[in-house]
Amino acid sequence: MRGVFVTGTDTGVGKTVVCGLLAAFLRSQGVRAVTQKWVETGCAGEPSDLSVHRRLMGLPPAPPSSLPDLCPYRFSLPASPHLAAAREGKSIEASVIEAAYGRLAASHDVVLVEGAGGFLVPLSEDLLAGDLAARLGLGALVVVRNRLGCINHALLTVEAVRLRGIPLLGLVFNRPSEPDGGTPAGMLEDNARAVGEVARAPVLGEVPFLPGIEGGREAFAPTGRAILSRWRPG
Ligand SMILES: Nc1ncnc2c1ncn2[C@@H]1O[C@H](COP(=O)(O)OP(=O)(O)OP(=O)(O)O)[C@@H](O)[C@H]1O
Ligand SMILES: [Mg+2]
Repeated sequence: MRGVFVTGTDTGVGKTVVCGLLAAFLRSQGVRAVTQKWVETGCAGEPSDLSVHRRLMGLPPAPPSSLPDLCPYRFSLPASPHLAAAREGKSIEASVIEAAYGRLAASHDVVLVEGAGGFLVPLSEDLLAGDLAARLGLGALVVVRNRLGCINHALLTVEAVRLRGIPLLGLVFNRPSEPDGGTPAGMLEDNARAVGEVARAPVLGEVPFLPGIEGGREAFAPTGRAILSRWRPG
């Protein structure tokens, strides 16, 4: 498996942070990892998710000539890809994404593809992101925003991944914000345990709230090692 679809339970759950930290970890282990974002919406200038990945990897911003491979579709409307494309009179073509992915896969050990939003986001009205991930033979890593309600979202996502025959690498539980006073003690820990148990799926790590995401490399290392223990890229 050369490609991993870094998907999540929703938008804003930490896919960019996990994707960038995983790429940085893999590179620190000598794996030639690159990140790709098929569609970035709400994009003004350089795609911001790609910039965060590269910052976490210690790389300079992507040169404009590399964008057709790294982020083939960029739209200004901050909306679902199918709508953001339509508003610019465009449509997202699987063949364009497939060709860009193929070029990156040919020159790297692993391509980490960050999804837009959740697993079943429509790229067009007849193409869901999860279906394209299946077609390209990617594995899936599910990022879960750890909060009240996430058990259901995580189980739905795992079910949709499995329904498409996509190998599930596992789940990463992320805490993009500090727990507020209303969070019952032990609930967030139990969310991860319960999902692992019910879905019979590996929980590969938990990313704590990071006051600065650049400082997250150390906190991410155990998750990175757990991922590598289940999967050898290349
Ligand atoms: N563990 C964490 N600690 C602190 N901040 C975090 C953490 N994870 C994510 N964040 C912050 O939460 C916000 C959302 O995270 P992120 O951009 O990674 O989500 P996403 O799933 O990639 O969203 P999108 O669907 O828009 O691509 C960002 O501002 C990010 O810096
Ligand atoms: Mg993102």
